[in-house]
Amino acid sequence: MNARTAINEKMNLDQFPPQFRLDVMTQNDVPDVGRVERLCFPNPWPASAYRRELQNPSQNYYVVLRLRPSTALMNGSSTRESDVDHGDPKRPLPRRSLLPLQLGKRHPDPDVTHGQLVGFAGMWMAFDEAHVTTIGVDPAFRGHGLGELLFLSMVDEAMARGALWLTLEVRVSNLQAQALYRKYGFTVHGTRKRYYSDNGEDALIMWSRALTDADVRAEIENRRDELARRLGSQIEFNRVSPFAISVSRLNAPSAPLEQS
Ligand SMILES: CC(C)(COP(=O)(O)OP(=O)(O)OC[C@H]1O[C@@H](n2cnc3c(N)ncnc32)[C@H](O)[C@@H]1OP(=O)(O)O)[C@@H](O)C(=O)NCCC(=O)NCCS
Repeated sequence: MNARTAINEKMNLDQFPPQFRLDVMTQNDVPDVGRVERLCFPNPWPASAYRRELQNPSQNYYVVLRLRPSTALMNGSSTRESDVDHGDPKRPLPRRSLLPLQLGKRHPDPDVTHGQLVGFAGMWMAFDEAHVTTIGVDPAFRGHGLGELLFLSMVDEAMARGALWLTLEVRVSNLQAQALYRKYGFTVHGTRKRYYSDNGEDALIMWSRALTDADVRAEIENRRDELARRLGSQIEFNRVSPFAISVSRLNAPSAPLEQS
């Protein structure tokens, strides 16, 4: 049984298509972030590093992506749309993004009802630059646009905070992540020799183009529209509605990586 089949069986996806939600990371998320980090990186950060980062929200920004539980389904007490948690109550979501409620059904898996964490991302702000420090998606959920959603949330926040550029380091061998950054117009501006302590690998230093440039903004908006269509979700500037990915798409194999 492969990992994806196991997860689908565990979650009983035919009955309960997975629904996702993006939120700002809190201290309560740190243990779950650590679990997914260990699936993503050979050199995960210690929990204390996240805890320290989260104490300084004016200078950094961290988000988590979770399978979204429906509290209405969890406690079985209500299934009215008005009782479902839509995030900011001042901005009700459009009807097409509402969760597909299933009357009277409770989810059988506590991981899902408590919102299993499937991805995370974060960045630092320094003057007019934003520096993406981490991004990762649970391997069982890769290849469906979730990493791009997390990355777009970094781009959005950088623009919202007035950053002129976004930068990051990425392993020379990490072609998947590089492809994601190139998709958003990032280019390589240098290397840091033996940057990664686990294997002495070099890092590429990648930079965005000017985030204030009208053409760059237009391209980001095109990407946002494409991603919204792919996820079947509303992705407004700095705001993502909860969204669901259909079972058939989660079952489909990811595209193979083309080596150049
Ligand atoms: C990098 C990572 C976050 C991408 O997450 P993901 O959910 O699989 O990515 P998405 O499905 O959103 O793909 C977005 C883009 O990334 C690139 N990409 C993702 N997987 C790819 C693959 N297997 N081959 C080539 N490009 C790939 C593509 O540009 C893709 O856009 P496309 O679907 O239009 O081709 C994920 O692979 C990961 O967690 N890796 C381990 C942690 C890591 O390396 N983080 C980066 C540190 S710098």
